[in-house]
Amino acid sequence: MNKWGVWRDEGFLRRVMQQSHLNRTSFSGKMKSPSWGYRPKRSLPPDRWKERIIPCGKELEGIKITNLDFEEVITAPPEGSQVLIYIDPPYFRAKQESHYVHPFKEKDHVRLVKVLRNTPYKFFLTYDDVPEIHDLYEWAYIYPVQFFYRLDNSQNSNGLRQLGFELVITNYPLEKKSKQKKLYDYSLNGDVGPQSSPITKQYSIMNSKIVKSPFRFPGSKAQAIKYIRPFWELYAHDEFREPFLGGGAVFFAKPNVRYNWINDISNELIITYKIIANPNTRKQLIKLVSKEIATKERHIEMKEWEPKTDLEVAYKYFYLNRTSYSGIMKKPAWGYHPKKSVPPSRWGPRIESAGLKLNDVKITSLDYHEVIEASPQGERVFMFIDPPYYEADQKRAYEYSFTVDDHIETIQLDL
Ligand SMILES: C[S@@+](CC[C@H](N)C(=O)[O-])C[C@H]1O[C@@H](n2cnc3c(N)ncnc32)[C@H](O)[C@@H]1O
Repeated sequence: MNKWGVWRDEGFLRRVMQQSHLNRTSFSGKMKSPSWGYRPKRSLPPDRWKERIIPCGKELEGIKITNLDFEEVITAPPEGSQVLIYIDPPYFRAKQESHYVHPFKEKDHVRLVKVLRNTPYKFFLTYDDVPEIHDLYEWAYIYPVQFFYRLDNSQNSNGLRQLGFELVITNYPLEKKSKQKKLYDYSLNGDVGPQSSPITKQYSIMNSKIVKSPFRFPGSKAQAIKYIRPFWELYAHDEFREPFLGGGAVFFAKPNVRYNWINDISNELIITYKIIANPNTRKQLIKLVSKEIATKERHIEMKEWEPKTDLEVAYKYFYLNRTSYSGIMKKPAWGYHPKKSVPPSRWGPRIESAGLKLNDVKITSLDYHEVIEASPQGERVFMFIDPPYYEADQKRAYEYSFTVDDHIETIQLDL
């Protein structure tokens, strides 16, 4: 630009405008053979593009911007006293030719690993989770994470994005969040906790809501979620199974993944879950329970009532579960506390939020081993197994008790 604010090289300005236009209107911003991808209702309209350009321009003032091969940047002498490099190379297994103008070949991945092995600077690197990368970086710290992404037009049957298993690789260990926190409770440089994490946010396109179980349940893990959460967050998976569901404290606290399967041997419990999962029957159940009163007399009446339809089974099950001591459904005893228990006026909202979470979830009433042994639907299956405790007062707590033989059989399953 000259001192009059006029571009000397009109051709250059035209090229910049052309590239920016293509980037904002092409599918996924893909610049190699760009295809039309602007969606009038979702994409940023042209009259708002300046909202992105102006603040970015400000951020870029004084920044060194080069057009070099990565090796030159990583190996350049330091200007500051402590250098941190973020490296986001094309994926090892990406369809390079179709996505990037400059494909990154296997020899480039090997060149990158050699440069990083020798760098005196700290770096963090993101890659696709494939065996080759584990091999190349076995000398570094490797943390698996999961993201959703769309590099191409592929969508699964629900119109959801693909789940990508990714690695964050560093040459320094991630800090533990705090000394009191348990095993595996990492934070990425302290600012990526479960709530703020961009990784977790990606789940918003699935059913990421954390809701409370609609049931009270003996042996519920509701109070232990903060200790259990790190175990599911650190293992990237696209299929989740919970064969001993009970009140499902973990299922309801965990973001849904692509395939979700919940199961319990208790037929009445599962009928109730299915009634809650279906929007029509859920509405009817909410209508029924919302009119209820929690009294000892009504509790006795309900216990004696013989339901005929699945909706009635669910109605009875839900009422007794909410008003009986500890949610114990075997010979339920009155256990509602007017000041402490959730009142009938709040039962409906509990059912509604649980129902939304159950959308598209496979719900069965099988013996646990059928669930554990079934063939996978996703690429990586993760299971939360919460059988009745070995020393639990089973005869009292559950309708179906789990014997010592059952415990031994669980260990012997060939996983
Ligand atoms: C400890 S509870 C699960 C509690 C649950 N994690 C929660 O947070 O509410 C165990 C569950 O296992 C179920 N169960 C017992 N034997 C089973 C079997 N053979 N197969 C499947 N489920 C079984 C019981 O009905 C009970 O609901």
